Amino acid sequence: PNEPPLVFHWFPLIGSTITYGMDPPRFFKENREKYGDCFTFILLGKKTTVYVGPKGNDFILNGKIRDVNAEEIYTVLTTPVFGKDVVYDCPNSKLMEQKKFMKIALTTEAFRQYVPIISDEVTNYLKRTADFKGKSGIVDIPPKMAQITIFTASHALQGKEIRDKFDESLADLYHDLDMGFSPINFMLHWAPLPWNNRRDYAQRTIAKIYMDTIKERRARGETGAQDIMWHLMNSTYKGNVPVPDHEVAHMMIALLMAGQHSSSSTSSWIMLRLASRPDIMEDLYNEQVKNLGADLPPLTYEDLAKLPLHAAIVKETLRLHAPIHSIMRAVKTPMPVPGTKYVIPTDHVLLAAPGVSATDESYFPQPDLWEPHRWEKDSPLAPTIVRNVSSEEDDEKIDYGYGLVSKGANSPYLPFGAGRHRCIGEQFANLQLQTILAVIVRNFKFRNVDGSDKVIGTDYASLFSRPLEPAKIYWERREG
Ligand code: HEM
Repeated sequence: PNEPPLVFHWFPLIGSTITYGMDPPRFFKENREKYGDCFTFILLGKKTTVYVGPKGNDFILNGKIRDVNAEEIYTVLTTPVFGKDVVYDCPNSKLMEQKKFMKIALTTEAFRQYVPIISDEVTNYLKRTADFKGKSGIVDIPPKMAQITIFTASHALQGKEIRDKFDESLADLYHDLDMGFSPINFMLHWAPLPWNNRRDYAQRTIAKIYMDTIKERRARGETGAQDIMWHLMNSTYKGNVPVPDHEVAHMMIALLMAGQHSSSSTSSWIMLRLASRPDIMEDLYNEQVKNLGADLPPLTYEDLAKLPLHAAIVKETLRLHAPIHSIMRAVKTPMPVPGTKYVIPTDHVLLAAPGVSATDESYFPQPDLWEPHRWEKDSPLAPTIVRNVSSEEDDEKIDYGYGLVSKGANSPYLPFGAGRHRCIGEQFANLQLQTILAVIVRNFKFRNVDGSDKVIGTDYASLFSRPLEPAKIYWERREG
């Protein structure tokens, strides 16, 4: 009776699955115009309630643990890929502890080492890759960015030994593992289909590689490199319970997988946007020359703070191209929606879509325009809201067990989510993306193959949205 309005559809089970699946942002926008910020649609037979806008973001992402549940939704997809007893294959309280362990390794001290590692990986990649040989050329950019992402992330987060295995066996294994993340697996995750069999084999094999490494390191009594694996091996749950080896291995997989798609998609969008706006690529180059010196010395962690436009590029690209368009929660108790007559029943799934408010003109003037300079103070295109969305400093903080995180309550800009499930990889992703960007800008000028300012459409067919392929750009080496 007090349920939100139901989106019109012709067929009971299919409902709006097709129109939603083809273009979720458009689906949200059109139905918001018809039904308001809170409405229900049928997704694969399931009543799915969308609540967009800052209030909706807050309602869902900061929902109480007795009201909303993430693991019930995600586990069918993630558990076969990550492995047992981690992330969504355990109670939420355990995940909060695991996020604390994973976060320890993502500190300023570690970041200082990561910048040279990442910039060297990118530089070497550009040197050895055939598609970048010569003075100029045309390249399908997303597959290149996918490789750059995996090489840089694995080297920084998992060490040289594991990184080197990506030139051989690990690349194919991770590819097979990845197939487990197809949305079709929300229904067919259990099926003994060829790609699921390969997924399971890959999971076991990769986990074994990590577990063997753990055993060797323990046998050597290693005290050396304090990398992520070391931190996880030496972490203890409440009650002084050590983390079992298989959980360490599965967290290593989860960390790499969580970052891979989101960062790879974002870096591809950055390159495509730059190709459509060569003037901005020049602004970036000039920013480096001006703030780091004309000789462009090797990048350091400290340098990144001197490159605000580089940071704004990442920010603006995530505003328009957040790779996660739908965040889902199961409803555990009937939830009244404050300020309305609606009550969301327990047979609904809740869906948050922070991308809707990030492209709403009540918060961002000319919302569809990709304009990194809007994040500069006093820009006429600066976000028009009372709260300063470009900084979290004034936001309410809360501790879910993995350190203080911004509640992000009521913010229209939440590419990294909010609340207990908030991303722990934000700082690493920013560091990685800005470093990759800085190295690319030093080497190349980009433009669209036809010289236009067009941008390619979005592929929503996989779990993380990304550019449609092929997405070709024209590149030219900078002189000198
Ligand atoms: C959670 C986005 C990179 C690890 C999330 C969530 C979002 C997000 C929206 C919340 C999901 C939910 O509430 O259901 C992104 C974006 C990234 C990025 C846009 C890059 C541009 C990374 C990286 C790592 C990572 C590099 C690891 C190093 C995680 C983890 C969670 C998470 C562990 C927690 C899941 C949970 O508590 O349920 N991320 N992420 N992410 N992310 Fe990221």
